[in-house]
Amino acid sequence: MTYNFLHIALACTSLSLCSCGDRADIAAKESAVPLEVASVYGTCAPGDGGSGKTYMGREIAEVMGHTGLDWLERSEREQEERTDLLMRMLPIRASDAIADIGAGSGYFTTRLARLVPEGVVYATDIQPEMLAVLEQRARDEGMLNVMPMLGKIDDCGLEPNSVDLALLVDAYHEFSHPAEMMRTLRAAMKPEGIVVLVEYRLEDETVAIKLRHKMSAAQAKAEMEAAGFTSVKTLDELPQQHVLLFKRSR
Ligand SMILES: C[S@@+](CC[C@H](N)C(=O)[O-])C[C@H]1O[C@@H](n2cnc3c(N)ncnc32)[C@H](O)[C@@H]1O
Repeated sequence: MTYNFLHIALACTSLSLCSCGDRADIAAKESAVPLEVASVYGTCAPGDGGSGKTYMGREIAEVMGHTGLDWLERSEREQEERTDLLMRMLPIRASDAIADIGAGSGYFTTRLARLVPEGVVYATDIQPEMLAVLEQRARDEGMLNVMPMLGKIDDCGLEPNSVDLALLVDAYHEFSHPAEMMRTLRAAMKPEGIVVLVEYRLEDETVAIKLRHKMSAAQAKAEMEAAGFTSVKTLDELPQQHVLLFKRSR
């Protein structure tokens, strides 16, 4: 099956780069906002790697700019993160429609594309610079079943009921509008579709990643539940990251 490369319209806002207080402060500030005027988001003094915006007691991380491409593509990544093992853990069939959300340079996109020779990988990102690299990479590797899509900060941009498996590696924690993103992703998932969050373990102090770029399994599950998903399984075989599998709950 052959797919043409397609770009969907961009609607992106500026990305804040700031630095924060602890999670108890964040929860206190959020709960101090009167209910009738409270949005689901709050603010805090930006912490290291944080955006200054909060959601469910967590400070949302700043978005990793495209200048961080080299880090995503570092040669030690497979060994450090066991990305090969991650690929083998995913419940993927050859004809599946996969969404790689926050795909960055496409590190996972072409690996996924190889697993779905009869399917498609929708690769979304909000940074055109990332997508340009991703698109070139798909071309270089001859992956015709990759469809890059320029996303919006509050809308995954995928058609309703179109995705069998959505993979979000090191991306969810930096969504500036996680509630909106996951609401639209929920609609895009087929009824039995699986959403996989891969996040650096906050519970593990030895994982040397900025605090705001890590998530606890409990926090991720609470946020996903609020977005209408149910936890199916949590896998902790990777050296640094949780692999959290969810399904639509209602
Ligand atoms: C740390 S990178 C990870 C890239 C890739 N998943 C990987 O592991 O190699 C996170 C990516 O998520 C993207 N991103 C942030 N918010 C997004 C959103 N609302 N929709 C799609 N992509 C988003 C960023 O632009 C960035 O490229």
